[in-house]
Amino acid sequence: MAPFPPPPVNTIDWSNVGFRVREVNGHVESHYSVKTGEWTAPTFVADPFMRIHGMAPALNYGQQAYEGLKAFRLPGDQTIAIFRPDRNAARLQHSADFISIPPVPTELFLTAVKAAVALNAEYVPPHETSAAMYIRPQIYGSSAQLGLNPPEEYTFCVFVLPTGVYHGTHPVEALIMDDFDRAAPNGTGSAKVGGNYAPVLRWSERARNEGYGITLHLDSKHHDEVDEFSTSGFIGALVDGDDVTLVVPDSKAVINSITSDSVQQIAKSFGWKVEKRPIKYSELPNFAEVMAAGTAAALVPIRSITRRTSASSLQSLASSAKDHPHVSFKGEEETISYMPEGQEDAGNLCIKLLTQLKGIQLGKISDEFGWRFEV
Ligand code: COI
Repeated sequence: MAPFPPPPVNTIDWSNVGFRVREVNGHVESHYSVKTGEWTAPTFVADPFMRIHGMAPALNYGQQAYEGLKAFRLPGDQTIAIFRPDRNAARLQHSADFISIPPVPTELFLTAVKAAVALNAEYVPPHETSAAMYIRPQIYGSSAQLGLNPPEEYTFCVFVLPTGVYHGTHPVEALIMDDFDRAAPNGTGSAKVGGNYAPVLRWSERARNEGYGITLHLDSKHHDEVDEFSTSGFIGALVDGDDVTLVVPDSKAVINSITSDSVQQIAKSFGWKVEKRPIKYSELPNFAEVMAAGTAAALVPIRSITRRTSASSLQSLASSAKDHPHVSFKGEEETISYMPEGQEDAGNLCIKLLTQLKGIQLGKISDEFGWRFEV
């Protein structure tokens, strides 16, 4: 038998993986039927396509949810480790509840994720690159159902593919979304369902065409508190002399980011403070650094945050932070800058957090938190 894991394939330029779909050996599937009340043992399917009835509620009523996590190749014996999959299992169970899909038990989730990685192990990037294997578990209502009630059958599947980091590694400019609310105040904002992402596409595309690399959502009710970026969680860093405090939003409309949670624990291990609380828009100029935290994104340094005050007559920094050195006004736009123009590197705090996070993920640093699950 060939030794496991196999080396990375030589058909991919590992120094330039990018963030796009690449074909691998296949995916893993499990099925649930209301008749049996159980998920089947996961099976491997050597095909990226799935057979689904055209009247499945996944396609018609958006009855689906997904996850995102990563596997890394460690140094030395090339062991492959998945980063905190138990947390993704729990988050998928949280999402499933919102959309009336039976929860995938944690053990089944872990088995299926490990199997999908193992059966595509030659697509886990080499240790020395900044790429990783991105793992995309999904659940959806898969049997035909016309009425607006839960169907008889569900599918759980796990896809994998090698990717680089989303948004790249250089600082990006953020635009606040005031014309569109991502999630209703008592809605599905904390669930990782496609319905929180598809409506964002036209806005993020428009923002991208205007030069903004990322979009930021405020709370839907008053538009005066920070929720999250469209792709990732929000982290602000306050600095007072030698004291650093990371501030993360306390909002029931945001995804519980596992990357942000990891960064918060790392920050505490540095002796920094962490506060989870509502973050007012008017506080944004106080942060020394802002970061976006997500599985796909890792930790993205935010260069600036811009708001179009024409669309947000409720809030403007003109009265509270008019003379703040980081705030500038141009026509009906106000921009908070977190780094000097032209700076291409992340801020020091972001670099320190990211180095530690990547060090643990890649097995360069001992896993004091117990986050690596070996395949
Ligand atoms: C992830 O970071 O894993 C996500 O699911 C965000 C997605 C927009 C790429």
